[in-house]
Amino acid sequence: MNAGLIGVGKYAPPHIMTNEDLEQRLDTSDEWIRTMTGIEERRIADDETNTSHMGYNAAVEAIENAGIQPEDIGLILVATVTPDYPFPSVATMLQDQLGAKNAAAMDISAACAGFMYGIVTAKQFVESGTYENVLVVGVEKLSKITDWNDRNTAVLFGDGAGAAVVGKVSEGRGILSFELGADGSGGKYLYQDDKLKMNGREVFKFAVRQMGETAVNVIEKAGLEKDDVDYLIPHQANIRIMEASRERLGLPLEKMSKTIHKYGNTSAASIPISLVDDLAEGKVKDDDVIVLVGFGGGLTWGGICMRWGR
Ligand code: COA
Repeated sequence: MNAGLIGVGKYAPPHIMTNEDLEQRLDTSDEWIRTMTGIEERRIADDETNTSHMGYNAAVEAIENAGIQPEDIGLILVATVTPDYPFPSVATMLQDQLGAKNAAAMDISAACAGFMYGIVTAKQFVESGTYENVLVVGVEKLSKITDWNDRNTAVLFGDGAGAAVVGKVSEGRGILSFELGADGSGGKYLYQDDKLKMNGREVFKFAVRQMGETAVNVIEKAGLEKDDVDYLIPHQANIRIMEASRERLGLPLEKMSKTIHKYGNTSAASIPISLVDDLAEGKVKDDDVIVLVGFGGGLTWGGICMRWGR
């Protein structure tokens, strides 16, 4: 039996913060942010909108898109490093709000690689026959842990949510291979101590190396060649990191997802948000081979190769 994504959804808060807005409060420039990161604007949630609200909106869309009912969900996994509270988990809050009365629920902490960890965990439960449908949500309100006086980090991040229902798909489709990994010795390069702290250089070096490596590994594990890949969805952290993984796979520009200019780095939400936008624009079609690859604090990373479609 194959597990795959049978429905997806997203939520982006309406308020847009542009690079020009940041120029007003920090010693930075639109030019620097665009050329160094690829970011033009990001969404920022208002005070009334917490992580669970954004996650709920994305989850509702994914459940509708999958054509299932909340009671059909056996497990809810929420990947986030910005939960409303240390506990109860965001996953249990969504379980209640959605009326998913048959679902177990827990949060996953793997930072920007969280959605990859969530999907791979969901796949195990679906393919073992334990649960028919697993809801995976990647959601962050990074604005609440951003140090708005630190130009090294304040320009990078945004808020948002993406979700997917993992369920059974037809033979040949779905998740073909995956890789998850961690290197806790690099935890010091990206962490939260009240506010978010980062050594950009070190994270950049790690990301360029690991994103390419993991993408190549999952293609090989799927028994495919680079030429078989139709589309790459990298974690949207920095256009230069994304470009390095695209070049590693030898893919043309139009075969890589790029939403970073609109949303910035939304951490665990970035890959599912990109997937939803790409599907809406017809960039991902049934039977396409797509590679999703992410990295984040921990350090953590994860990649998935899948054949799209139910
Ligand atoms: N505006 C203007 N200048 C800035 C700036 C900003 N927002 N942020 C940093 N600078 C300056 C630095 O102070 C430095 O100035 P100096 O040379 O006078 O000291 C200069 O730009 C270069 O900084 P540096 O940090 O060495 O640049 P970089 O090439 O490493 O690029 C990042 C910085 C943050 C864009 C890059 O390191 C990066 O993207 N790292 C990965 C971060 C990431 O993905 N984090 C999330 C992981 S999920």
